[in-house]
Amino acid sequence: MNVIIVKNKDEGVKKASSIISKEIKNNPKLVLGLATGSTMIPLYTELRGRNLDFSNVTTINLDEYLGLKENDKNSYHYFMKKYFFNYININKKNIFFPNPQIKKLPKINLQVLGIGVNGHIGFNEPGSKINSKLRKVKLSENTRRINSRFFGLLEKVPKYAYTLGIKEIMQSNKIILLAFGRNKSEVIRKTVKDKISNEVPASLLRKHKNVTLIIDKSAARKLK
Ligand code: F6R
Repeated sequence: MNVIIVKNKDEGVKKASSIISKEIKNNPKLVLGLATGSTMIPLYTELRGRNLDFSNVTTINLDEYLGLKENDKNSYHYFMKKYFFNYININKKNIFFPNPQIKKLPKINLQVLGIGVNGHIGFNEPGSKINSKLRKVKLSENTRRINSRFFGLLEKVPKYAYTLGIKEIMQSNKIILLAFGRNKSEVIRKTVKDKISNEVPASLLRKHKNVTLIIDKSAARKLK
């Protein structure tokens, strides 16, 4: 795992955008794995400003809540349109979200990840196995509580979601994981320093050959 510690979120987002831009320029048909969440918002804003050609790029989102319509303000479909897809020249037919009806997803070339404070990646919650595949998952109470900040009420947060598995994530050629802020410092320590364990799904990424972790000083404070 290649760990890059940057001054702040701004610098981290620029670094990640530069990696993504370079990959798209090298391969205009890049298959790009994407995440949602607050970490990704400044990244998508930065990428939108880079005037990249997405006309032949394919995107695969990591996860989506079960039971929300695509136009529901809390769905990840809606999030992606609001912060990214509405601004870029991506072809709608090249946008994928996980659902079990999908028989075969293209193989991901570059996967962008955020991390939950419990170590989840996508919605692969603690206990997820390294060979887990695209599936329906039950969200942990911790994740539902944290994500209720978007829904207003905890009861409104869906109990289930679809997520790509750790297996599909690990099959990507290259992975970038982003984490900013003090509240991610403990999970970053576990991910980088503790033993590799299903209980911290992000730690499984250490078995991948090409992972870059981009964290700011606050998220890195427990690494010394
Ligand atoms: C969502 C996803 C999640 C988030 C994680 C961090 O698509 O993949 O694993 O990356 O929950 O979320 P934020 O960035 O809101 O802290």
